[in-house]
Amino acid sequence: MLPPVIAPSILSADFARLGEEVARVLADGADWIHFDVMDNHYVPNLTIGPQVCAAIVPYARRDGVAAPIDVHLMVEPVDALVPTFAKAGATRISFHPEASRHVHRTIALIRDHGCSPGLVLNPATPVEWIDEVLDDLDLVLLMSVNPGFGGQAFIPQTLAKIGRVRARIDRHAAGTGRLIRLQVDGGVKADNIAAIAAAGADTFVAGSAVFGQPDADGGYRRALDALRSMAKPN
Ligand code: DX5
Ligand code: ZN
Repeated sequence: MLPPVIAPSILSADFARLGEEVARVLADGADWIHFDVMDNHYVPNLTIGPQVCAAIVPYARRDGVAAPIDVHLMVEPVDALVPTFAKAGATRISFHPEASRHVHRTIALIRDHGCSPGLVLNPATPVEWIDEVLDDLDLVLLMSVNPGFGGQAFIPQTLAKIGRVRARIDRHAAGTGRLIRLQVDGGVKADNIAAIAAAGADTFVAGSAVFGQPDADGGYRRALDALRSMAKPN
């Protein structure tokens, strides 16, 4: 398994101080910045776009090195935004297959623009949707809430689904030697991350669990430490 990655979602950050929030959470131990893009069409909420991504790039640094910006596109259609986000500094781009008419083409487009492609499965989307494209993916993201809002409760059926995706990723790795990340997004907290890791996830998005803490007295660092200590594989 790949080493665990903690990716705080800036959806729950203070948007009026976004640059500082990004820098703070990285200084306090985050691995990636999870960047939730919502269009009020594919999902019933409207958030941030490529201009905001470009604006945080100078703040997305840890020890002088650029930290990955993990863009989660909850938009339909997808393709037009891929080059724009690549230009705006995205490192990884994940999208929902229901939102793209040609999923394989969108994955190739992300790769051609120098980013790492990920495919996102909603709670009701069957795991079989990854089967024909696993070769081309660097990450599979399982939504453990319905996309659109931070602060929702983790859907418990996700745990069994993580196991089914883990088995596919491991089988693929045995044949190709290529490890694909298994990310979980939605309702991840210190009290359930151990079970999520034990089920087979290695990459954890956490919005409210991190940014819901008071930053002033080291709350982000404590939240990140708690998540990381429980996210270790057994
Ligand atoms: C939901 C977003 C998530 C969300 C996670 O549509 O994709 O990234 O912000 O927030 P929490 O951790 O609060 O559920
Ligand atoms: Zn997300």
